[in-house]
Amino acid sequence: MGIKFKITVLMISILVISGCSSNSAQPVDEADHSAMNKEDMEEMDHSAMNHDKMRNEHMSHDEVISLNDSTGENELKIPPMLERDKGEGVEYTVRAQKGKTEIFDGIETNTSGYNGAFLGPVLRFSKGDTVKIRTINELDEETTFHWHGLEVPGDADGGPHDSLKPGEEKLIEFKVKQEASTLWFHPHPKGKTAEQVYNGLAGLIYIDDDHSKSLGLPNEYGKNDIPLIFQDRTFDEKRQLNYSAIKNDDGTVGDTLLINGTLNPKLTVKKEKVRLRLLNGSNARNYTFKLNTGDSFVQVATDGGFLNEPVTLKEMTLTPSERAEIVVDFSKIDSEKDLALINEDGSSLLSFEVSDQSGENSEVPGKMNDFSMTEEERNLPVTKEVELFGMMDQVTINGKKFDPERIDFTQEQGVTEVWEIYNKPDMMGGMIHPFHIHGAQFKILSRNGEEPPENERGWKDSISIQPDETVKIAIQFKNKGVYMFHCHILEHEDNGMMGQVKVE
Ligand code: C2O
Ligand code: CU
Ligand code: CU
Repeated sequence: MGIKFKITVLMISILVISGCSSNSAQPVDEADHSAMNKEDMEEMDHSAMNHDKMRNEHMSHDEVISLNDSTGENELKIPPMLERDKGEGVEYTVRAQKGKTEIFDGIETNTSGYNGAFLGPVLRFSKGDTVKIRTINELDEETTFHWHGLEVPGDADGGPHDSLKPGEEKLIEFKVKQEASTLWFHPHPKGKTAEQVYNGLAGLIYIDDDHSKSLGLPNEYGKNDIPLIFQDRTFDEKRQLNYSAIKNDDGTVGDTLLINGTLNPKLTVKKEKVRLRLLNGSNARNYTFKLNTGDSFVQVATDGGFLNEPVTLKEMTLTPSERAEIVVDFSKIDSEKDLALINEDGSSLLSFEVSDQSGENSEVPGKMNDFSMTEEERNLPVTKEVELFGMMDQVTINGKKFDPERIDFTQEQGVTEVWEIYNKPDMMGGMIHPFHIHGAQFKILSRNGEEPPENERGWKDSISIQPDETVKIAIQFKNKGVYMFHCHILEHEDNGMMGQVKVE
């Protein structure tokens, strides 16, 4: 089999894997690789890709790439709010544990969860709270408790250095200083993050503040303020999550969507504005959300806070670990039709059933925040450069794989620096890498020199970076410690597409 064939297969696989969308991969045309010269070959070898392995994995990957339509037969599960422990101060207990969950009628699937069999409760904090959390590992393997998007000291961040052995526990404490937002938590043990998240370890964190309460946005939890954790999975014939059997080094995707762990979900709403807090909690899949009617909605928040103004959209993309809050006005949409949230390819993700009841008459305020980018921030020189490269298990940052003993960058606490992140394409085009930094919320200064789109002009902790794209961000760490930065395709993270910044 000639190299040309393999490359063609690879190209196709990459296009499929990156969602087939025209902007997610740059096709190389046939003439280009037939004219491939020796240097090109070397570049391929240099990236040390195992062609056969990639071909096989991508070929099998292709078969499960599209999501089955949700039939909408099951009412969406709403995760419980975590109750405080009795006693002084704000104290919570979070246990990572194994369990069994009836995802399919009458069948038990082995899963993991926090304080339950599958996924986790919502941890709800108010700005200003001092939070103490007792974290307990009841799994039969090491894990960590990472608070994604939370600005906490390094020793509370739950990165791979913070591993708890089975049966161990750790008390962490931090003060909530950041603004109202929807964050999340998940494990982060070295090399095992993807599998543990896949099996169900993930939960949401809500931060409230006085400002968010005064905005008048829908805020009845589970009624018109709805958490939506999107995760795609593959179940085997016994309806089990057999991670090691279906794992893909370039990001494990599945054909079955679960929202909050619900198969074929449906959400019943009143004729009113409903706030949806979306988390892409998938290992690797990107989603572009739309309403099947073509109606628009407004985005009100990014990863780390409210946008200054609501942004009207007909579709919105979230790459793994990104969040967005949107408001859909069900009093304005024709509910005679079948309503659903669909993916870019038209597959139905979440059906909506609109009841006859009219609900609250809430308004989305025109001004929600005072997020700004100062001239000074715009003019800061780039002081950190990050180059993302590779695929499969050959992924690197600045040419290196993660080494827990190596500090890649240092940054001073409370000082804003500009990081420039570049997604270096390979000769087949490359793929989107969702890039995330721990312990801070940052501002996107530019994408390829241009201002970011309106719905990215807010606090972010994760950003999608297209092949050959350069993104500049301004970031300041409020606390000290060692923090990870990495690709949030969890298999890329586990394969070493991760570095560390030490804040002192
Ligand atoms: Cu969602 Cu290293 O994090
Ligand atoms: Cu994180
Ligand atoms: Cu990646």
